[in-house]
Amino acid sequence: MKTVGKLIGACKEYKTGDTMITALQPTTVDFRTNELTLIMGPSGSGKTTLLSLLGCVIFPTRGEVYINDVLINGLSEKELARTRLNNIGFVFQSFNLLAPLTGLENVMQPLLLMDVPYKEAKSRAAEALEKMNMTDRMNNLPKMLSGGQQQRVAIARALVSNPSILLCDEPTAALDVKSLGVVMTELKMLADGGKAVAVVTHDLRLKQFADRIIYVNNGIASDQPDEDLAEH
Ligand SMILES: Nc1ncnc2c1ncn2[C@@H]1O[C@H](COP(=O)(O)OP(=O)(O)O)[C@@H](O)[C@H]1O
Ligand SMILES: [Mg+2]
Repeated sequence: MKTVGKLIGACKEYKTGDTMITALQPTTVDFRTNELTLIMGPSGSGKTTLLSLLGCVIFPTRGEVYINDVLINGLSEKELARTRLNNIGFVFQSFNLLAPLTGLENVMQPLLLMDVPYKEAKSRAAEALEKMNMTDRMNNLPKMLSGGQQQRVAIARALVSNPSILLCDEPTAALDVKSLGVVMTELKMLADGGKAVAVVTHDLRLKQFADRIIYVNNGIASDQPDEDLAEH
């Protein structure tokens, strides 16, 4: 296991008018390869804020964030965007697939944005879809796919640039129980294959897929051992 993302005393505060909201209290936590980490807690507790700090979407108010040993605090917005592109894949609750494009074309998009030649983008996208067991449906439009299949296309799109960290915010919230199991099994396999996978959820059923759980409550994140975690 290798540390790929690290927060050291990182916190986030928002000022709105006279009031200050502490979205996340100072938090120190490592995210490592070969681990599926669940981030759990009630609504408004700071889960998305923790994920956004790790994903270099926001800067910490205080404290440090490292991605693959690079301190991101001092980076410009442009350097931050590049760090995100090279290291991090995002998966959201709403799959955000482009409706007029096939699964394959959707997965090709990040590579085309990075100026990867079309033919290479196509073969790398097909490879990412194969990892998600979606080869047979890759030429379908999103509307022809179930919610679980659409989410697997969205995960392939997050994976296609070969990021070391995969961040998922409530990825199973819109799925039925069967699709939830399929998607979580795929995410667990990606972690076992060497990615660092972090999944925000408040669904207790996801615990069985976790190597580790971080609980967030009122902006306080704590890393506690849990009894029903995935066996190794
Ligand atoms: N951009 C923002 N501006 C002001 N307050 C915010 C902002 N983002 C989050 N917050 C506040 O910070 C707290 C934590 O939010 P969030 O991390 O989204 O919680 P969760 O994902 O656990 O529901 C909430 O009280 C929320 O209203
Ligand atoms: Mg949230």
